[in-house]
Amino acid sequence: MTTLITNIKELLQIRNSDITKVSGTEMAILPTIKNAYLVIHNDLISDFGSMENLPNLKADTTIDACGKIILPSWCDSHTHIVYAGNREQEFVDRINGLTYEEIANRGGGILNSAQKLNETSEEELYRQSEERLKEVIQLGTGAVEIKSGYGLTVEGELKMLRVIKKLTNNYPIAIKATFLGAHAFPSQFKDNKKAYIDLIINEMLPKIANENLADFIDVFCENGYFTVAQTELIIAAGIRYGLQPKIHVNQFNSIGGIQVGVQNKALSVDHLEVMTPEDIEELKGTSTMPVALPSCSYFLSIPYTPAREMIKAGLPLALATDFNPGSTPSGNMNFVVATACIKMKMTPEEAINAATINGAYAMGISSTHGSITIGKKANLIITKPIPSYYQIPYAFGSNLIESIILDGKLYQ
Ligand code: NIG
Ligand code: FE
Repeated sequence: MTTLITNIKELLQIRNSDITKVSGTEMAILPTIKNAYLVIHNDLISDFGSMENLPNLKADTTIDACGKIILPSWCDSHTHIVYAGNREQEFVDRINGLTYEEIANRGGGILNSAQKLNETSEEELYRQSEERLKEVIQLGTGAVEIKSGYGLTVEGELKMLRVIKKLTNNYPIAIKATFLGAHAFPSQFKDNKKAYIDLIINEMLPKIANENLADFIDVFCENGYFTVAQTELIIAAGIRYGLQPKIHVNQFNSIGGIQVGVQNKALSVDHLEVMTPEDIEELKGTSTMPVALPSCSYFLSIPYTPAREMIKAGLPLALATDFNPGSTPSGNMNFVVATACIKMKMTPEEAINAATINGAYAMGISSTHGSITIGKKANLIITKPIPSYYQIPYAFGSNLIESIILDGKLYQ
């Protein structure tokens, strides 16, 4: 099955296969071809170039993309799409003056979602999560990481990870699963935190590894959640089961989570709303991808990740949604890209790099996703006719996507 796309106004994010991420000043460069063609063979990109060099080829399907821009699908490397119900009431409580922290201290927050999830059947959880996955696919996401962490019991965590696995099997989108049993301490372990950590390490992890349900291990390293020492213990256990760390750090406080991440070769450290100069220094020259979640900053009215300082220091940066019921009830990567430009002063080129190739890196899939490269997955966004790709962040509330290609096929 061969599909030929012709007359593409501009084809974005052309990369050689050896580029797995972009850092520092390279982030300002977004290689493109104007007036381009692209060939898809089965599920892969097999050729592309300038229309002047259009090969004489017999395609099964031809798509005319006159006036339209094509880019690789968004790679959303940090989500909590599998959850039950919602936290609308907490949203209103925050409008009325309570803080996210105060709500959590009253037993709301993550524990509220955990209670709902444990009362929901696996089938119903799948149904609710599937709706969210379909929504983000329509918004241009072609690869997504999904975390557990709203079970906080052996059964609840397994239920979440089984739902993620079922989504992986049923949808034509790359999905990576992360075990986040260390998201919060359940109230019954309030005074015996060691017992919950033992449960994670001795009961949850072996079962998860046995069923091959997770690719990564995550911990919410933050005051009031997991200390640096506890984070270290849990990620070390995950590593013993072959799970690379991807950790929540520096959301509200800089307590040393980045250092632990870097020392343990974390694939990514995520949130980073609060960054000290030492934190930035620590990340230099490492294989750990910093990930910013601007929709979370927007929704909670907390600081944005200091992208300019980090890029100036030569670091790479990825952008993700953090789609979850408490801090970011939105999985819209277009909004993330726009917000990164508007609030974090990233240029459109930097933001698109951060949401494609660097997002793919933060999920360990940049050899197959995140750029227009021969041999990579044909997961693409075709825009409506637009003047230039600047529209993507500029027209921040508009839906500019006309169609989606996943695994080489038009997704309806
Ligand atoms: O990434 N920060 C920790 N976890 C999630 C939010 C959890 C929640 O409020 O349900 C986050 O923002
Ligand atoms: Fe998160």
